[in-house]
Amino acid sequence: MIALFAKLPPAVTALLLQLAAFSLSVLSMRLAGQQVSPLAFALMCGTLAAAFSHFAGQARWWLYIQFLFAPALVVMLSLDIPSGFFLTAFLVLLVVYWSTFRTQVPLYLSSDKVWHALEELLPSRQGFRFADLGSGLGGVLTHLARIRPDGYYHGVESAPLPLLWSWLRIRLGDHRNCSVRWGSLWDCDLAEYDVVFAYLSPVPMERLWHKACTEMRPGTLFVSSTFSVPGQLPQRTIEVDDLHRSTLQVWKMA
Ligand SMILES: C[S@@+](CC[C@H](N)C(=O)[O-])C[C@H]1O[C@@H](n2cnc3c(N)ncnc32)[C@H](O)[C@@H]1O
Repeated sequence: MIALFAKLPPAVTALLLQLAAFSLSVLSMRLAGQQVSPLAFALMCGTLAAAFSHFAGQARWWLYIQFLFAPALVVMLSLDIPSGFFLTAFLVLLVVYWSTFRTQVPLYLSSDKVWHALEELLPSRQGFRFADLGSGLGGVLTHLARIRPDGYYHGVESAPLPLLWSWLRIRLGDHRNCSVRWGSLWDCDLAEYDVVFAYLSPVPMERLWHKACTEMRPGTLFVSSTFSVPGQLPQRTIEVDDLHRSTLQVWKMA
């Protein structure tokens, strides 16, 4: 059962388990011939969904989400908030987070101390190429492009609003050596770059490492902020004194 759910994105698994909890709750109420308040019913669904998630091997935070989901629905509906509010909130979240339910890489930003730490990893020669895989709001790219205008900086981003934001940031800052494009990092050819930077999540790291090993040229740098590659010790680790205690893990490709 756990193996079956492991193939699905966690959000899809969570939704299926909510449906199972709802069906089981309805069936139990019918069999018992009982009527309960909507909130009590929602708490029953939530408890069952959290239990199912536990047995399906979902991460701990999903258990809280699963437990609170149905009760939160009931409470929000009782507040009589206009439906346009929910549609607007959904659309805003959609353009910011886009395919996070599938990629499991949400938007969160590198600190400016990470930007500064990256400066020292840039090659000393002119005309080098730097990639930010999942470039978010473009902070890394525009900072480095300003500090080291003798390099070229490229970002790839899959979520529309961060992409638009970073595109405007580049345009308004007049960074001619900097660009972003809409797309998937899996479609980037890493052979083009001297430094490849990634600040993603634990989920894609193993696959990304294989991509980096296959495509990157010998002597170029692969840098991961915070997230390690399973089974691969970095050649260099830079501790950054920021709020998240970020760590830059650096590999020189063979
Ligand atoms: C943790 S943020 C990092 C943002 C930026 N690199 C920084 O350091 O501030 C990760 C970004 O990667 C994007 N992303 C996730 N999966 C992606 C994919 N497969 N292709 C392109 N972008 C992706 C997300 O939308 C998000 O903006």
